[in-house]
Parts: sequence; structure tokens; C-alpha cells
Amino acid sequence: MLGEFIYCNPTRIYFGKKALANLEKEIMKYGPKVLLVYGKGSIKKNGIYDEVMTILNKANKEVIEDGGVMPNPTLDKLYEGLKLAKDNKVDLILAVGGGSVIDYAKAVSVGAYCEDDVWEKYFERMEDVDNPIIPVGCILTMVGTGSEANGGSVITNVQKKMKKSHTFGDNVFPKFAILNPEYSYTLPKYQMVAGIYDIFNHLTEQYFSGEDDNTSDYVAEGLMRSLIHASYIALKDPYDYEARSNIMWTATLALNTLTAKGKSTDWMVHMLGKAIGAYTDATHGMTLAVCSLPYYRYIMPYGLAKFKRFAVNVFNVDIKDKSDEEIAKEGLDELEKWMHDLGLVMHAKDLGMTLEMLEEVADKVLITSGGYKTLNHEEIVEILKASL
Ligand code: NZQ
Ligand code: ZN
Repeated sequence: MLGEFIYCNPTRIYFGKKALANLEKEIMKYGPKVLLVYGKGSIKKNGIYDEVMTILNKANKEVIEDGGVMPNPTLDKLYEGLKLAKDNKVDLILAVGGGSVIDYAKAVSVGAYCEDDVWEKYFERMEDVDNPIIPVGCILTMVGTGSEANGGSVITNVQKKMKKSHTFGDNVFPKFAILNPEYSYTLPKYQMVAGIYDIFNHLTEQYFSGEDDNTSDYVAEGLMRSLIHASYIALKDPYDYEARSNIMWTATLALNTLTAKGKSTDWMVHMLGKAIGAYTDATHGMTLAVCSLPYYRYIMPYGLAKFKRFAVNVFNVDIKDKSDEEIAKEGLDELEKWMHDLGLVMHAKDLGMTLEMLEEVADKVLITSGGYKTLNHEEIVEILKASL
């Protein structure tokens, strides 16, 4: 590991079937007013809302509800949350949901006492937080983003057609996260597989960078293997606790900063996916699925040694009598096969993207330089075309 880094992940995680039993002692650390943030209603259908309310009521908390957070939360919705949190002087934000709900909660947390416009300060100028932060705790119901134990917050500005993220510091990470794999049982298959691919892509975004012998790469390979293994079991039986629990824990480890240590990290697939998402409002994991293979096939020659290693160590590709290119290519073919087995959306046109949108979408793609090839605008256009 050649890079220098700091490692600190302050999120206290409660994992397992009885994880919710720890909610009471966590909320007692904060004042009486709780902003309860949730999505469009899944938690009311599956009973999690009632379970959480019982605990909040028993603890004599004053609950201010902020429901209706949409997938890919918008800036307009965020402005409503900021007002609710500030007007009510809430002591804790409790997010019950997936990445959208938790990301939104973090944006409310840093934005409620921000005197500037929250979008301009934190999502355009990317400034550090210099105002009071409201603590966030979360109960995870959708597995994929890793938002439960990181500082990421992704907000969509509908008017500007921009989906932007800010990775805040560890003072914004959730203070606690309740992870009960059984909560993921009610996820529709579409969401389950989108989440699985999101996890995988978080790992590859970090893995496909750097050339040093790095422990983070070995950890990432192990996580990828575990995820692929568990995914086939969960596809067959969504109620297989062992598989769902492995997927949930892999999601957290894939983006809790661990596998980024000592790495430059790429994130180019996410940049492409976010631009597609800003124009289509499509499910995050699916936006990654449509552009991954065109991107990886394009950059493969620039990071050949790593793509070969990926083929062998993640997909067990046989190396006998094959060139490095052939091995690396077979690895990506295996990845494609797994993606088909999951039933992912493989074409951006199936997410609502059109050829006419392409140039505009390409203009919105943020170009990163941590991977094996820094793309130019024409290359972005070609990759997006191949994603269609
Ligand atoms: O709104 P409800 O009714 O709750 O329904 C949600 C939503 O429709 C549903 N759902 C969640 N848990 C469920 C459930 N349905 C049945 N049973 C359950 N247990 O699932 C749908 C998707 O939820 P959402 O939170 O949008 O999904 P996800 O966790 O994938 O979050 C996506 C957002 O996170 C951002 C994405 O860009 C996107 O905006 N990301 C955040 C990251 C981070 N914080 O580090 C990194 C990621 O790369 C990503 O960019
Ligand atoms: Zn992601």
C-alpha cells in the first residue's frame, strides 16, 4: 500500500434479526425531538413504521414526520426538510429507508443551519461544513448504497437536470445504523438486483485504480466473490437469511471507506450513471448496469494487468494457453453473464434515454482521473452511445 490515509468510521452498527432492540438506547443519547424521515410508504406496508413508532413513543420522543422522500431525492423536497428540521429545532434525524432516505437525512443534517443556499454551498462549490450539524441515525431497509455508514449524500436538482453528490466527513456519517437483513425481504426483485449491482460497482470503482500491491484489492476481491455467491442464492430464495445477511454486510463494507484505503479510486461509472439518472430518474443500480460494460471494455487495455487479475481472482477464469487480453476479456464476459443472470437492465434506452439526449447527458458527466484512463468528451459520447 503506497498511499497515505486516515481510517475512521464512527458509525456504530447493530446487525442481525434483533438489531432494532438497540434503537431505544441510541435515541436516549439525544434530546426529545426526532425528525422521522422515510420514503413513499414501503415501511408502512411492511410494518417497520409501526415497530419504530412504538419505540419512539415509549421513549417519550416528540416525533416530527418527514415522509414521502422519493428515490433520487430532489432539491425541492430537501428545502421542505430543511425548514421542518430548523423550525422544530430537532435533536436527531432518524432515517428509515434506503440510500435515498439516508442521503436526504444527511443533506437535511448539514443544511438546516446553513446560511447559504445548500445546493450551491455543498453540491456545487463542494465546501466543507462550517455550520451546526444535526446528528443522523438510520434503520436500513434497502441494501446497496452503503449510505448507512458513510458520508455520501446524493441530491437531484430537477430544474438544472443535475444529480450531484457530496461526500461529507465522518462528522456527518450516521451515528448509528440498524441493519436487520430481514427488512430487505420485502424489496421487489428489481430493487434487490439493482442494489446488488450497485454494491459490486462500488467495489470495482475502487479496485480498478492503482498498480501497487494493495490489501484493499484483496479485500475487494473477497467481497465480490461473496456477493456473487450470495446473489445466486437470494435470486432463488429471497427469504434465505444467510444470503440476504451477507449481501447486506457486503454493501456496508463496499462503501464505508475501507476498500478505498490506499487507492486513487475511479468512480467514472458512477459519473456516467448519475448523468443518465438526472435525465431519466432511473433506479441508481440500473444506471450503472447500462454503462459499466461499455466503459470497462473501453478502458481494459489501459489497465490490462488489473483486468486480468479480476478475471482470475473474481471469476476463476482459466489462464492456460491464453494471452493477457483474452483472459481479461473473458473476465468481462463472465461479468456480463452474471449481470444477465441477475436480470439487470442492460440498455440505457430501456431506462428512457434517447439518442437525442446523448450530447446533453454527456455534457453533464463529471470526468474523474483516478482510474486507468482519463476520458475526453468524445470518448464519453461513444461510451454513452454504446450504453444505449
Ligand atoms: O420509498 P419507499 O416506499 O420506501 O420505496 C423504496 C423505493 O421505491 C423501496 N424500498 C426500500 N426499502 C424497501 C422498499 N420496498 C420494499 N421493501 C423495503 N424494505 O425501494 C425503492 C428504492 O429505494 P432507494 O432508497 O431510492 O434506493 P437506494 O438505496 O438504491 O438509494 C438510491 C439513492 O442513493 C444514491 C443514489 O444516487 C440514489 O439517489 N447513492 C448514494 C450513495 C451514498 N450515500 O454513498 C452512493 C451510491 O452510489 C448512490 O449514488
Ligand atoms: Zn452506487
